[in-house]
Amino acid sequence: MSIIAQEVARRRTFAIISHPDAGKTTLTEKLLLFSGAIQLAGTVKGKKSGRHATSDWMEIEKQRGISVASSVMQFDYRDHIINLLDTPGHQDFSEDTYRVLTAVDSALMVIDAAKGVEDQTIKLLEVCRLRDTPIVTFMNKYDREVRDSLELLDEVENILKIQCAPITWPIGMGKTFRGVYHILRDEILLFDAGQDSAQQLVNEVISGIDNPRLDELFPLEIEQLRNEIELVQGASHPFNLEAFLSGKQTPVFFGSAINNFGVREILNALVDWSPAPAARHATKRDVEPTEGKFSGFVFKIQANMDPKHRDRIAFVRVCSGKFERGMKMKHLRLNRDIAANTVVTFMAHEREQVEEAFAGDIIGIPNHGNMQIGDTFSEGEALAFTGIPFFAPELFKTARIRNPLKIKQLQKGLQQLGEEGAVQVFKPLNGSDMVLGAVGVLQFEVVASRLNNEYGVEAVFESTSTATARWVSFKDNKQKAEFEKALQHQLSVDAGGNLAFLATSRVNLQLTQERWPDVVFHATREHA
Ligand code: G4P
Repeated sequence: MSIIAQEVARRRTFAIISHPDAGKTTLTEKLLLFSGAIQLAGTVKGKKSGRHATSDWMEIEKQRGISVASSVMQFDYRDHIINLLDTPGHQDFSEDTYRVLTAVDSALMVIDAAKGVEDQTIKLLEVCRLRDTPIVTFMNKYDREVRDSLELLDEVENILKIQCAPITWPIGMGKTFRGVYHILRDEILLFDAGQDSAQQLVNEVISGIDNPRLDELFPLEIEQLRNEIELVQGASHPFNLEAFLSGKQTPVFFGSAINNFGVREILNALVDWSPAPAARHATKRDVEPTEGKFSGFVFKIQANMDPKHRDRIAFVRVCSGKFERGMKMKHLRLNRDIAANTVVTFMAHEREQVEEAFAGDIIGIPNHGNMQIGDTFSEGEALAFTGIPFFAPELFKTARIRNPLKIKQLQKGLQQLGEEGAVQVFKPLNGSDMVLGAVGVLQFEVVASRLNNEYGVEAVFESTSTATARWVSFKDNKQKAEFEKALQHQLSVDAGGNLAFLATSRVNLQLTQERWPDVVFHATREHA
Protein backbone atom coordinates (compact mmCIF):
# COMPACT_ATOMS: atom_id res chain seq x y z
CA MET A 1 0.00 0.00 0.00
CA SER A 2 1.27 3.48 -0.80
CA ILE A 3 1.98 5.85 2.04
CA ILE A 4 -0.98 7.95 1.00
CA ALA A 5 -3.29 4.91 1.05
CA GLN A 6 -2.02 3.96 4.51
CA GLU A 7 -2.60 7.45 5.81
CA VAL A 8 -6.09 7.62 4.33
CA ALA A 9 -6.99 4.24 5.81
CA ARG A 10 -6.23 5.43 9.34
CA ARG A 11 -8.26 8.63 9.13
CA ARG A 12 -11.71 9.10 10.61
CA THR A 13 -13.49 12.39 10.10
CA PHE A 14 -16.78 12.89 11.87
CA ALA A 15 -19.15 15.58 13.08
CA ILE A 16 -20.79 15.59 16.46
CA ILE A 17 -24.45 16.57 16.28
CA SER A 18 -27.22 17.07 18.81
CA HIS A 19 -30.07 19.20 19.98
CA PRO A 20 -28.68 21.94 22.27
CA ASP A 21 -28.01 20.77 25.82
CA ALA A 22 -27.94 17.07 25.02
CA GLY A 23 -24.28 17.00 26.03
CA LYS A 24 -22.35 17.51 22.80
CA THR A 25 -19.76 19.79 24.36
CA THR A 26 -19.30 17.50 27.33
CA LEU A 27 -18.86 14.46 25.15
CA THR A 28 -16.45 16.28 22.81
CA GLU A 29 -14.31 17.12 25.75
CA LYS A 30 -14.39 13.57 27.04
CA LEU A 31 -13.41 12.20 23.64
CA LEU A 32 -10.40 14.50 23.71
CA LEU A 33 -9.64 13.43 27.24
CA PHE A 34 -9.78 9.74 26.47
CA SER A 35 -7.58 10.05 23.45
CA GLY A 36 -5.01 11.77 25.62
CA ALA A 37 -5.29 14.97 23.59
CA ILE A 38 -6.08 16.96 26.69
CA GLN A 39 -5.19 16.13 30.27
CA LEU A 40 -7.95 17.73 32.22
CA ALA A 41 -11.49 18.40 31.18
CA GLY A 42 -12.50 22.03 31.53
CA THR A 43 -15.82 20.86 32.99
CA VAL A 44 -17.66 22.08 29.91
CA LYS A 45 -18.44 25.67 29.07
CA GLY A 46 -19.65 26.41 32.53
CA LYS A 47 -22.57 28.68 32.62
CA LYS A 48 -22.19 28.34 36.31
CA SER A 49 -18.53 27.62 36.73
CA GLY A 50 -17.28 30.19 34.22
CA ARG A 51 -14.90 27.69 32.64
CA HIS A 52 -15.15 26.96 28.98
CA ALA A 53 -14.88 23.89 26.88
CA THR A 54 -11.88 23.70 24.67
CA SER A 55 -14.02 24.02 21.57
CA ASP A 56 -15.69 27.27 22.53
CA TRP A 57 -14.04 30.23 20.93
CA MET A 58 -16.09 33.24 20.59
CA GLU A 59 -17.22 35.81 23.04
CA ILE A 60 -20.83 35.43 22.06
CA GLU A 61 -20.71 31.73 22.67
CA LYS A 62 -19.49 32.33 26.15
CA GLN A 63 -22.19 34.88 26.82
CA ARG A 64 -25.03 32.84 25.48
CA GLY A 65 -23.74 29.42 26.19
CA ILE A 66 -24.36 28.22 22.68
CA SER A 67 -21.90 27.08 20.16
CA VAL A 68 -22.05 29.55 17.28
CA ALA A 69 -19.06 28.56 15.25
CA SER A 70 -18.15 25.08 14.28
CA SER A 71 -14.75 24.09 15.39
CA VAL A 72 -12.34 21.43 14.33
CA MET A 73 -10.16 19.23 16.48
CA GLN A 74 -7.65 16.61 15.51
CA PHE A 75 -6.36 13.89 17.79
CA ASP A 76 -4.80 10.42 17.73
CA TYR A 77 -6.47 7.31 19.03
CA ARG A 78 -5.30 3.72 18.60
CA ASP A 79 -2.94 4.67 15.82
CA HIS A 80 -5.73 6.45 13.98
CA ILE A 81 -6.06 10.13 13.27
CA ILE A 82 -9.43 11.45 14.22
CA ASN A 83 -10.80 14.72 12.93
CA LEU A 84 -13.74 15.87 14.98
CA LEU A 85 -15.92 18.69 13.71
CA ASP A 86 -18.21 20.41 16.12
CA THR A 87 -21.51 21.71 14.77
CA PRO A 88 -23.53 24.59 16.10
CA GLY A 89 -26.59 23.12 17.75
CA HIS A 90 -28.88 26.10 17.53
CA GLN A 91 -31.36 25.95 14.70
CA ASP A 92 -30.43 29.37 13.42
CA PHE A 93 -27.11 28.00 12.33
CA SER A 94 -28.37 25.02 10.43
CA GLU A 95 -26.84 26.33 7.23
CA ASP A 96 -23.40 26.35 8.71
CA THR A 97 -24.04 22.92 10.17
CA TYR A 98 -25.10 21.65 6.80
CA ARG A 99 -21.83 22.67 5.25
CA VAL A 100 -19.87 21.08 8.07
CA LEU A 101 -21.73 17.86 7.38
CA THR A 102 -20.54 17.95 3.77
CA ALA A 103 -16.97 17.77 5.05
CA VAL A 104 -17.28 14.61 7.17
CA ASP A 105 -17.51 10.89 6.55
CA SER A 106 -19.65 9.99 9.56
CA ALA A 107 -21.53 11.60 12.44
CA LEU A 108 -21.93 11.03 16.14
CA MET A 109 -25.44 11.83 17.33
CA VAL A 110 -25.90 12.65 21.01
CA ILE A 111 -29.36 12.25 22.52
CA ASP A 112 -30.45 13.35 25.96
CA ALA A 113 -32.03 10.14 27.22
CA ALA A 114 -34.37 12.04 29.50
CA LYS A 115 -35.80 13.88 26.52
CA GLY A 116 -35.44 11.56 23.56
CA VAL A 117 -35.50 12.77 19.98
CA GLU A 118 -35.75 16.57 19.84
CA ASP A 119 -36.43 19.05 17.02
CA GLN A 120 -32.90 19.83 16.10
CA THR A 121 -31.95 16.17 16.06
CA ILE A 122 -34.64 15.58 13.47
CA LYS A 123 -33.35 18.36 11.23
CA LEU A 124 -29.76 17.25 11.52
CA LEU A 125 -30.66 13.72 10.64
CA GLU A 126 -32.47 14.92 7.54
CA VAL A 127 -29.29 16.60 6.48
CA CYS A 128 -27.20 13.50 7.19
CA ARG A 129 -29.62 11.44 5.16
CA LEU A 130 -29.03 13.54 2.06
CA ARG A 131 -25.58 12.06 1.84
CA ASP A 132 -26.37 8.76 3.62
CA THR A 133 -23.82 9.67 6.27
CA PRO A 134 -23.24 6.79 8.71
CA ILE A 135 -24.36 7.68 12.23
CA VAL A 136 -23.25 6.41 15.62
CA THR A 137 -25.71 7.17 18.44
CA PHE A 138 -24.92 7.97 22.06
CA MET A 139 -27.78 7.98 24.58
CA ASN A 140 -26.51 10.36 27.21
CA LYS A 141 -27.25 11.24 30.84
CA TYR A 142 -27.91 7.77 32.26
CA ASP A 143 -26.68 9.07 35.61
CA ARG A 144 -30.10 10.73 35.77
CA GLU A 145 -33.60 9.39 35.74
CA VAL A 146 -34.11 8.91 32.04
CA ARG A 147 -36.77 7.37 29.84
CA ASP A 148 -37.19 3.70 29.21
CA SER A 149 -34.35 2.51 26.97
CA LEU A 150 -36.51 0.38 24.67
CA GLU A 151 -38.89 3.27 24.23
CA LEU A 152 -35.96 5.50 23.26
CA LEU A 153 -34.87 3.06 20.57
CA ASP A 154 -38.41 2.92 19.28
CA GLU A 155 -38.56 6.66 19.10
CA VAL A 156 -35.32 6.89 17.13
CA GLU A 157 -36.56 4.25 14.71
CA ASN A 158 -39.97 5.82 14.22
CA ILE A 159 -39.12 9.48 14.14
CA LEU A 160 -35.65 9.45 12.63
CA LYS A 161 -36.42 6.53 10.38
CA ILE A 162 -33.20 4.72 11.04
CA GLN A 163 -32.77 1.19 12.36
CA CYS A 164 -31.21 0.93 15.81
CA ALA A 165 -28.68 -1.74 16.71
CA PRO A 166 -27.91 -1.46 20.42
CA ILE A 167 -24.27 -2.33 21.03
CA THR A 168 -24.33 -1.76 24.76
CA TRP A 169 -27.24 -1.87 27.17
CA PRO A 170 -27.48 0.18 30.36
CA ILE A 171 -27.52 -1.45 33.76
CA GLY A 172 -29.75 0.74 35.87
CA MET A 173 -30.08 4.49 35.63
CA GLY A 174 -29.73 7.51 37.86
CA LYS A 175 -28.11 6.67 41.17
CA THR A 176 -28.17 2.99 40.37
CA PHE A 177 -26.47 3.28 36.98
CA ARG A 178 -23.62 0.83 37.32
CA GLY A 179 -22.39 0.16 33.84
CA VAL A 180 -23.35 -1.43 30.58
CA TYR A 181 -23.69 -4.87 29.10
CA HIS A 182 -21.74 -5.07 25.86
CA ILE A 183 -24.04 -7.08 23.64
CA LEU A 184 -21.49 -7.94 20.96
CA ARG A 185 -18.80 -8.98 23.38
CA ASP A 186 -21.12 -10.56 25.97
CA GLU A 187 -19.34 -8.61 28.69
CA ILE A 188 -20.45 -6.48 31.54
CA LEU A 189 -18.49 -3.28 32.08
CA LEU A 190 -18.88 -1.82 35.53
CA PHE A 191 -17.95 1.82 35.78
CA ASP A 192 -16.50 4.03 38.42
CA ALA A 193 -17.45 7.66 38.26
CA GLY A 194 -14.62 9.97 37.36
CA GLN A 195 -15.03 13.44 36.03
CA ASP A 196 -11.90 15.20 34.98
CA SER A 197 -9.52 12.43 34.17
CA ALA A 198 -9.74 9.35 32.05
CA GLN A 199 -8.53 7.20 34.90
CA GLN A 200 -10.32 4.33 36.55
CA LEU A 201 -13.10 4.05 34.16
CA VAL A 202 -13.97 0.48 34.06
CA ASN A 203 -13.89 -0.92 37.51
CA GLU A 204 -14.49 -4.47 36.51
CA VAL A 205 -15.21 -6.49 33.37
CA ILE A 206 -17.36 -9.56 33.84
CA SER A 207 -17.51 -11.99 31.01
CA GLY A 208 -20.88 -13.53 30.13
CA ILE A 209 -24.37 -12.45 31.13
CA ASP A 210 -24.79 -15.80 32.95
CA ASN A 211 -21.68 -15.30 35.08
CA PRO A 212 -22.53 -16.06 38.75
CA ARG A 213 -20.46 -13.03 39.76
CA LEU A 214 -23.39 -10.96 38.54
CA ASP A 215 -25.75 -12.75 40.93
CA GLU A 216 -23.37 -11.82 43.73
CA LEU A 217 -23.15 -8.21 42.69
CA PHE A 218 -26.78 -7.60 41.78
CA PRO A 219 -28.85 -10.16 43.64
CA LEU A 220 -31.97 -8.06 43.31
CA GLU A 221 -31.65 -6.71 39.80
CA ILE A 222 -29.94 -9.44 37.83
CA GLU A 223 -32.99 -11.37 36.83
CA GLN A 224 -34.70 -8.34 35.44
CA LEU A 225 -31.54 -7.36 33.60
CA ARG A 226 -31.20 -10.80 32.02
CA ASN A 227 -34.82 -10.71 30.93
CA GLU A 228 -34.44 -7.26 29.50
CA ILE A 229 -31.36 -8.21 27.54
CA GLU A 230 -33.08 -11.26 26.17
CA LEU A 231 -35.95 -9.06 25.11
CA VAL A 232 -33.66 -6.48 23.50
CA GLN A 233 -31.74 -9.10 21.63
CA GLY A 234 -34.93 -10.62 20.37
CA ALA A 235 -36.59 -7.34 19.43
CA SER A 236 -33.78 -5.25 18.00
CA HIS A 237 -31.63 -5.52 14.91
CA PRO A 238 -28.24 -7.12 15.18
CA PHE A 239 -25.43 -4.81 14.18
CA ASN A 240 -24.72 -4.91 10.47
CA LEU A 241 -21.69 -3.00 9.24
CA GLU A 242 -22.99 -2.57 5.73
CA ALA A 243 -26.32 -1.21 6.93
CA PHE A 244 -24.42 1.24 9.12
CA LEU A 245 -22.13 2.35 6.29
CA SER A 246 -25.07 2.99 4.01
CA GLY A 247 -26.76 5.14 6.66
CA LYS A 248 -29.65 2.72 7.24
CA GLN A 249 -28.72 1.52 10.69
CA THR A 250 -27.17 3.22 13.70
CA PRO A 251 -25.20 1.42 16.40
CA VAL A 252 -26.48 2.72 19.76
CA PHE A 253 -24.39 3.20 22.92
CA PHE A 254 -25.59 4.16 26.37
CA GLY A 255 -23.73 6.16 28.96
CA SER A 256 -23.09 9.37 30.77
CA ALA A 257 -20.63 11.77 29.21
CA ILE A 258 -20.19 13.77 32.35
CA ASN A 259 -19.10 10.68 34.27
CA ASN A 260 -17.02 9.23 31.42
CA PHE A 261 -19.36 6.25 31.12
CA GLY A 262 -19.37 4.78 27.66
CA VAL A 263 -16.96 7.24 26.10
CA ARG A 264 -14.28 4.71 25.20
CA GLU A 265 -16.84 2.47 23.49
CA ILE A 266 -17.77 5.38 21.26
CA LEU A 267 -14.17 6.03 20.29
CA ASN A 268 -13.68 2.35 19.51
CA ALA A 269 -16.80 2.28 17.36
CA LEU A 270 -15.58 5.26 15.38
CA VAL A 271 -12.21 3.66 14.76
CA ASP A 272 -13.52 0.15 14.09
CA TRP A 273 -16.62 0.90 12.05
CA SER A 274 -16.75 4.44 10.73
CA PRO A 275 -15.52 4.76 7.19
CA ALA A 276 -12.18 6.16 6.15
CA PRO A 277 -12.40 8.99 3.62
CA ALA A 278 -14.04 7.93 0.37
CA ALA A 279 -14.18 9.31 -3.16
CA ARG A 280 -15.77 12.74 -3.55
CA HIS A 281 -17.90 14.09 -6.34
CA ALA A 282 -16.47 16.89 -8.40
CA THR A 283 -17.46 18.35 -11.70
CA LYS A 284 -16.16 16.16 -14.49
CA ARG A 285 -15.09 13.21 -12.32
CA ASP A 286 -14.96 11.65 -8.85
CA VAL A 287 -11.78 12.18 -6.88
CA GLU A 288 -10.27 9.24 -4.99
CA PRO A 289 -8.67 10.01 -1.62
CA THR A 290 -5.60 7.97 -2.49
CA GLU A 291 -4.77 9.86 -5.66
CA GLY A 292 -1.24 11.25 -5.67
CA LYS A 293 -2.18 14.87 -6.17
CA PHE A 294 -3.55 17.16 -3.53
CA SER A 295 -7.10 18.53 -3.70
CA GLY A 296 -9.57 19.98 -1.21
CA PHE A 297 -12.48 22.39 -0.79
CA VAL A 298 -13.45 25.19 1.56
CA PHE A 299 -16.52 24.32 3.65
CA LYS A 300 -16.31 27.09 6.16
CA ILE A 301 -14.71 30.46 6.68
CA GLN A 302 -14.28 32.17 9.94
CA ALA A 303 -12.97 35.63 10.56
CA ASN A 304 -11.19 36.83 13.64
CA MET A 305 -11.40 33.42 15.22
CA ASP A 306 -8.81 34.15 17.76
CA PRO A 307 -8.66 37.76 18.92
CA LYS A 308 -4.90 37.36 19.31
CA HIS A 309 -4.51 36.65 15.60
CA ARG A 310 -7.19 38.82 13.95
CA ASP A 311 -7.32 36.98 10.69
CA ARG A 312 -9.62 34.84 8.61
CA ILE A 313 -9.29 31.15 8.26
CA ALA A 314 -10.66 29.11 5.38
CA PHE A 315 -11.34 25.56 6.58
CA VAL A 316 -10.39 23.14 3.85
CA ARG A 317 -11.31 19.48 3.80
CA VAL A 318 -8.48 17.60 2.12
CA CYS A 319 -9.98 15.23 -0.48
CA SER A 320 -6.94 13.61 -2.07
CA GLY A 321 -3.18 13.41 -2.15
CA LYS A 322 -0.80 14.84 0.34
CA PHE A 323 -0.66 18.37 1.55
CA GLU A 324 2.82 19.54 2.50
CA ARG A 325 3.64 22.80 4.13
CA GLY A 326 5.02 25.29 1.65
CA MET A 327 3.63 23.47 -1.35
CA LYS A 328 2.13 25.41 -4.22
CA MET A 329 -1.53 24.89 -4.79
CA LYS A 330 -3.95 26.41 -7.19
CA HIS A 331 -6.95 28.41 -6.04
CA LEU A 332 -9.13 27.41 -8.96
CA ARG A 333 -11.84 30.06 -8.85
CA LEU A 334 -9.24 32.81 -9.06
CA ASN A 335 -6.87 30.71 -11.16
CA ARG A 336 -4.07 31.76 -8.87
CA ASP A 337 -1.24 29.86 -7.24
CA ILE A 338 -0.85 30.19 -3.52
CA ALA A 339 2.08 29.07 -1.44
CA ALA A 340 0.73 27.39 1.65
CA ASN A 341 3.31 28.36 4.21
CA THR A 342 1.25 29.17 7.24
CA VAL A 343 -1.47 26.56 7.10
CA VAL A 344 -2.75 25.44 10.49
CA THR A 345 -4.61 22.59 12.11
CA PHE A 346 -6.65 22.91 15.21
CA MET A 347 -6.11 21.30 18.51
CA ALA A 348 -8.50 22.75 21.00
CA HIS A 349 -7.79 26.50 20.81
CA GLU A 350 -4.15 26.15 20.05
CA ARG A 351 -2.97 26.27 16.51
CA GLU A 352 -0.16 24.20 15.20
CA GLN A 353 1.66 24.50 11.94
CA VAL A 354 0.76 21.65 9.66
CA GLU A 355 3.63 19.82 8.05
CA GLU A 356 1.50 17.38 6.10
CA ALA A 357 -2.14 16.38 5.76
CA PHE A 358 -4.10 13.69 3.92
CA ALA A 359 -7.66 13.09 2.80
CA GLY A 360 -10.07 13.53 5.68
CA ASP A 361 -7.91 16.10 7.45
CA ILE A 362 -9.03 19.66 7.84
CA ILE A 363 -6.49 22.38 7.28
CA GLY A 364 -6.95 26.06 7.95
CA ILE A 365 -5.62 28.56 5.45
CA PRO A 366 -5.28 32.11 6.74
CA ASN A 367 -6.28 34.68 4.14
CA HIS A 368 -7.40 38.24 3.70
CA GLY A 369 -10.80 37.71 2.21
CA ASN A 370 -10.10 36.19 -1.16
CA MET A 371 -11.34 32.70 -0.29
CA GLN A 372 -14.98 31.66 -0.31
CA ILE A 373 -17.03 28.73 0.83
CA GLY A 374 -17.05 26.12 -1.92
CA ASP A 375 -13.68 27.09 -3.41
CA THR A 376 -11.57 24.19 -4.61
CA PHE A 377 -7.79 23.88 -4.38
CA SER A 378 -5.73 21.47 -6.43
CA GLU A 379 -2.26 21.04 -7.80
CA GLY A 380 -3.45 22.44 -11.09
CA GLU A 381 -6.25 20.24 -12.42
CA ALA A 382 -9.46 22.17 -13.05
CA LEU A 383 -11.70 20.48 -10.47
CA ALA A 384 -14.67 21.76 -8.54
CA PHE A 385 -16.10 19.75 -5.68
CA THR A 386 -19.87 19.80 -5.69
CA GLY A 387 -22.59 19.58 -3.07
CA ILE A 388 -21.84 22.55 -0.82
CA PRO A 389 -25.04 24.58 -0.84
CA PHE A 390 -26.27 27.98 0.26
CA PHE A 391 -29.97 28.26 1.04
CA ALA A 392 -32.10 31.19 -0.02
CA PRO A 393 -32.67 33.17 3.19
CA GLU A 394 -36.16 33.86 4.48
CA LEU A 395 -35.42 36.77 6.81
CA PHE A 396 -34.12 40.10 5.63
CA LYS A 397 -32.84 43.33 7.17
CA THR A 398 -30.93 46.35 6.02
CA ALA A 399 -27.95 47.49 7.99
CA ARG A 400 -27.56 51.14 8.97
CA ILE A 401 -24.96 52.73 11.17
CA ARG A 402 -25.13 55.44 13.76
CA ASN A 403 -21.80 56.96 12.77
CA PRO A 404 -21.67 57.65 9.01
CA LEU A 405 -17.88 57.91 9.14
CA LYS A 406 -17.80 54.18 9.71
CA ILE A 407 -19.44 53.22 6.44
CA LYS A 408 -16.21 51.66 5.12
CA GLN A 409 -15.85 49.47 8.19
CA LEU A 410 -19.49 48.42 7.91
CA GLN A 411 -19.05 47.42 4.29
CA LYS A 412 -15.86 45.56 5.00
CA GLY A 413 -17.35 43.79 8.00
CA LEU A 414 -20.47 42.74 6.12
CA GLN A 415 -18.51 41.61 3.11
CA GLN A 416 -16.32 39.43 5.30
CA LEU A 417 -19.16 38.05 7.40
CA GLY A 418 -20.98 37.32 4.17
CA GLU A 419 -18.09 35.38 2.68
CA GLU A 420 -17.75 33.54 5.93
CA GLY A 421 -21.37 32.48 5.65
CA ALA A 422 -22.39 33.99 9.01
CA VAL A 423 -25.11 35.84 7.14
CA GLN A 424 -25.84 36.39 3.47
CA VAL A 425 -25.08 39.84 2.21
CA PHE A 426 -26.69 41.29 -0.89
CA LYS A 427 -25.41 44.45 -2.47
CA PRO A 428 -28.12 46.08 -4.60
CA LEU A 429 -27.21 47.01 -8.16
CA ASN A 430 -29.08 50.23 -7.42
CA GLY A 431 -28.63 51.92 -4.07
CA SER A 432 -26.18 51.57 -1.28
CA ASP A 433 -27.94 49.90 1.66
CA MET A 434 -26.77 46.31 1.89
CA VAL A 435 -29.49 43.77 2.48
CA LEU A 436 -28.75 40.99 4.94
CA GLY A 437 -30.44 37.64 4.57
CA ALA A 438 -30.62 34.97 7.23
CA VAL A 439 -32.16 31.61 7.85
CA GLY A 440 -32.66 32.26 11.56
CA VAL A 441 -33.14 35.48 13.57
CA LEU A 442 -30.28 34.83 15.90
CA GLN A 443 -27.92 35.30 12.98
CA PHE A 444 -28.67 39.04 12.99
CA GLU A 445 -27.80 39.26 16.64
CA VAL A 446 -24.54 37.47 16.06
CA VAL A 447 -23.70 39.77 13.15
CA ALA A 448 -24.51 42.91 15.18
CA SER A 449 -22.34 41.72 18.00
CA ARG A 450 -19.48 40.76 15.76
CA LEU A 451 -19.62 44.03 13.82
CA ASN A 452 -19.29 45.79 17.11
CA ASN A 453 -16.53 43.62 18.60
CA GLU A 454 -14.47 42.96 15.53
CA TYR A 455 -14.99 45.97 13.32
CA GLY A 456 -15.90 48.67 15.82
CA VAL A 457 -19.20 49.41 14.08
CA GLU A 458 -22.45 49.96 15.85
CA ALA A 459 -25.06 48.85 13.36
CA VAL A 460 -28.82 48.84 13.59
CA PHE A 461 -30.88 46.48 11.52
CA GLU A 462 -34.09 47.74 10.01
CA SER A 463 -36.83 45.94 8.23
CA THR A 464 -36.75 45.88 4.47
CA SER A 465 -39.19 45.33 1.65
CA THR A 466 -37.47 42.08 0.67
CA ALA A 467 -39.46 38.97 1.49
CA THR A 468 -37.58 36.24 -0.31
CA ALA A 469 -34.61 35.82 -2.60
CA ARG A 470 -33.63 33.63 -5.53
CA TRP A 471 -30.37 33.32 -7.35
CA VAL A 472 -30.83 33.70 -11.07
CA SER A 473 -29.11 32.22 -14.08
CA PHE A 474 -29.62 32.81 -17.77
CA LYS A 475 -29.38 31.01 -21.03
CA ASP A 476 -27.21 33.74 -22.54
CA ASN A 477 -25.81 37.21 -21.94
CA LYS A 478 -28.49 38.91 -24.00
CA GLN A 479 -31.20 37.53 -21.75
CA LYS A 480 -29.18 38.51 -18.70
CA ALA A 481 -28.84 42.08 -19.94
CA GLU A 482 -32.59 42.33 -20.59
CA PHE A 483 -33.45 40.95 -17.17
CA GLU A 484 -31.01 43.28 -15.47
CA LYS A 485 -32.37 46.28 -17.31
CA ALA A 486 -35.99 45.48 -16.51
CA LEU A 487 -35.52 44.57 -12.86
CA GLN A 488 -32.46 46.50 -11.83
CA HIS A 489 -34.09 47.88 -8.68
CA GLN A 490 -34.69 44.34 -7.38
CA LEU A 491 -31.34 42.82 -8.25
CA SER A 492 -28.31 42.47 -6.07
CA VAL A 493 -25.02 40.65 -5.89
CA ASP A 494 -24.14 38.36 -2.99
CA ALA A 495 -20.79 38.02 -1.24
CA GLY A 496 -19.74 35.39 -3.76
CA GLY A 497 -20.47 37.73 -6.69
CA ASN A 498 -23.66 35.90 -7.74
CA LEU A 499 -26.69 37.74 -9.03
CA ALA A 500 -29.84 37.41 -6.91
CA PHE A 501 -33.40 38.59 -7.36
CA LEU A 502 -34.91 40.08 -4.19
CA ALA A 503 -38.69 39.66 -4.24
CA THR A 504 -41.03 41.81 -2.20
CA SER A 505 -43.44 38.90 -1.69
CA ARG A 506 -44.07 35.34 -2.79
CA VAL A 507 -46.58 36.67 -5.31
CA ASN A 508 -44.03 39.08 -6.68
CA LEU A 509 -41.61 36.18 -7.09
CA GLN A 510 -44.20 34.05 -8.79
CA LEU A 511 -45.24 36.77 -11.20
CA THR A 512 -41.64 37.48 -12.11
CA GLN A 513 -41.03 33.80 -12.73
CA GLU A 514 -44.07 33.67 -14.97
CA ARG A 515 -42.97 36.73 -16.86
CA TRP A 516 -39.48 35.33 -17.38
CA PRO A 517 -40.07 31.63 -18.00
CA ASP A 518 -36.60 31.06 -19.45
CA VAL A 519 -34.73 32.54 -16.52
CA VAL A 520 -33.83 29.97 -13.86
CA PHE A 521 -34.59 30.95 -10.25
CA HIS A 522 -32.60 28.93 -7.71
CA ALA A 523 -33.66 28.44 -4.07
CA THR A 524 -30.24 27.02 -3.26
CA ARG A 525 -26.98 27.98 -4.73
CA GLU A 526 -24.31 25.39 -4.97
CA HIS A 527 -20.72 26.29 -5.39
CA ALA A 528 -19.28 24.77 -8.45
P1 G4P B 1 -24.50 20.84 24.33
O1 G4P B 1 -23.09 21.10 23.96
O2 G4P B 1 -25.11 19.70 23.60
O3 G4P B 1 -25.38 22.03 24.33
O4 G4P B 1 -24.52 20.31 25.84
P2 G4P B 1 -23.46 20.46 27.02
O5 G4P B 1 -22.36 19.50 26.87
O6 G4P B 1 -23.14 21.89 27.21
O7 G4P B 1 -24.35 19.94 28.19
C1 G4P B 1 -25.58 20.54 28.55
C2 G4P B 1 -25.84 20.32 30.01
O8 G4P B 1 -25.96 18.91 30.26
C3 G4P B 1 -24.72 20.79 30.91
O9 G4P B 1 -25.30 21.20 32.13
C4 G4P B 1 -23.92 19.53 31.16
O10 G4P B 1 -23.18 19.57 32.35
C5 G4P B 1 -25.03 18.51 31.23
N1 G4P B 1 -24.57 17.15 30.90
C6 G4P B 1 -23.82 16.73 29.88
N2 G4P B 1 -23.62 15.41 29.93
C7 G4P B 1 -24.26 14.97 31.03
C8 G4P B 1 -24.42 13.67 31.64
O11 G4P B 1 -23.90 12.66 31.20
N3 G4P B 1 -25.19 13.64 32.76
C9 G4P B 1 -25.76 14.74 33.30
N4 G4P B 1 -26.47 14.60 34.40
N5 G4P B 1 -25.62 15.97 32.75
C10 G4P B 1 -24.88 16.07 31.64
P3 G4P B 1 -25.64 22.72 32.49
O12 G4P B 1 -26.19 22.73 33.85
O13 G4P B 1 -26.45 23.33 31.39
O14 G4P B 1 -24.26 23.42 32.41
P4 G4P B 1 -23.07 23.37 33.46
O15 G4P B 1 -23.26 24.54 34.26
O16 G4P B 1 -23.17 22.07 34.19
O17 G4P B 1 -21.87 23.42 32.61
